[in-house]
Amino acid sequence: MTTTHATGAGREQLPALAAEDLVVEFPAGRGRKVHAVSGVGLEVAAGETLGILGESGCGKSTVGRSLIQLPPPDSGTVRLGATTLTGLAPEELRRARARIQIIMQDPVSALNPRRTVKDLVWEGPSIWGSGGDARDKDTRIDTALRDVGLDPATVRDRRPHELSGGQCQRVCIARALLLEPEVLICDEPVSSLDVSVQAQILNLLETTTRRRGLSMVFIAHDVSVVKNISDRVMVMYLGKTCEVLPSDGMHHEAVHPYTRLLLASLPEAQRGPAGPRGATDGTADASPAAELPSPLDPPSGCRFRTRCPLATGRCSGEEPALREIRPGHQVACHHVEPRRNHP
Ligand SMILES: Nc1ncnc2c1ncn2[C@@H]1O[C@H](COP(=O)(O)OP(=O)(O)OP(=O)(O)O)[C@@H](O)[C@H]1O
Ligand code: SF4
Ligand SMILES: [Mg+2]
Repeated sequence: MTTTHATGAGREQLPALAAEDLVVEFPAGRGRKVHAVSGVGLEVAAGETLGILGESGCGKSTVGRSLIQLPPPDSGTVRLGATTLTGLAPEELRRARARIQIIMQDPVSALNPRRTVKDLVWEGPSIWGSGGDARDKDTRIDTALRDVGLDPATVRDRRPHELSGGQCQRVCIARALLLEPEVLICDEPVSSLDVSVQAQILNLLETTTRRRGLSMVFIAHDVSVVKNISDRVMVMYLGKTCEVLPSDGMHHEAVHPYTRLLLASLPEAQRGPAGPRGATDGTADASPAAELPSPLDPPSGCRFRTRCPLATGRCSGEEPALREIRPGHQVACHHVEPRRNHP
C-alpha cells in the first residue's frame, strides 16, 4: 500500500491535524469490499484550510469521518495536535472529540427536530461535559448565536422546522464553535443550501476560522468553492490522493492529468483564459471522460489509468507514489517530473 501525504511546505510546528496511511474498506457481500480510502495521509497546520476535492464516490466524506473517528479507519493514524486519536480508549476519545468538530451537508437532519435552538447549541457541553462553566450558559448560547449572525431573541426557542436551511446550518456552526474546537471538518457544508445562502455561509466559515485561528478541512466537489476557501487543495481519485497544491495559482500550476481534467470542466470565467480547457458546469462530476471505475475492484497500478490520456504500460503495473515536485506541491504520477509544468 502506498501512503500519500498532503503536507504544507517548510513547517516546523506540530500540525493541528495529521493523518497517515488511512485505509477504510466496507464489506460488500460475497467476500468483496469497497476500497473507499486506500492509504491517504494529510497535514493541516494551525489556522490553515485544506480543501479536499474530487468527484462523487472518491472517498472525501470517508476521509472526513475517519479524521473524527466516526468510525475510526481500518488502519492508519490520526493525530490532533499531540494527541493520537486512533487507538484512544472510548472515554479519552469522547473528551478529545470536543476539539475536532464536523459540519455536515444536510443541516436539517443534523439537528434533533424535537429540541429548541438553545438546547441544540448547548448539546456539546451537555454531551462532552466540556465548554466551561454552565452558569453562564444563556449568555454563551446567545453569544454563539450572534457570532453566526442569528438573533438570539428570535431563534433561541425555535425548533429546526421553524428555521430556514441556512439558519439551520448557522445553528450547526454555532454548536460546533461553542466547544472552541481546534479543527473544523466541513463536509459539503453548503451543497444543500440555496445559491443565495451558500455565499453567506462560506463567508461566515472563512471569517470565523480566520478570526479564531481555526484549522479547517473543507470537503466539496465544486472546484471553485474549494479553491476559494482553501489555502491548499488535495485532489482525490478513487480512494487515493492525486495531487496536493496551493490554491493560489492552482489553475496554472496543476500537473496531474486528473486535476487538469477537473479544472478543464470549469467555465472560462472561473478557470481564467490560460487555464486548462474543457466543458460544462464547474463541478468535478462534469468530467468529459468515462465513469469512475468501481471501488470494489479498482484498476491496478495508477487508479486513474483507465481514464488517463497519458497512461503507459508502467501505469498499469506500478502505483505512482505521491512525490514533492516543488515546495508545497505533491503529485502522484509517473510522468510528471519535478519542476515541470506539464506531464
Ligand atoms: N457505510 C458504507 N457502506 C458501504 N460503502 C460505503 C459506505 N460509505 C461510503 N461507501 C462507499 O465508499 C466510497 C466512498 O464514499 P464517500 O461517501 O466517502 O464518497 P464522497 O467522495 O464523499 O462522495 P460524494 O461527493 O458523493 O459525497 C463510495 O464508493 C461509497 O459508495
Ligand atoms: S501515473 Fe500514468 S495513468 Fe496515472 S495519472 Fe500519471 S500518466 Fe496517468
Ligand atoms: Mg461525501
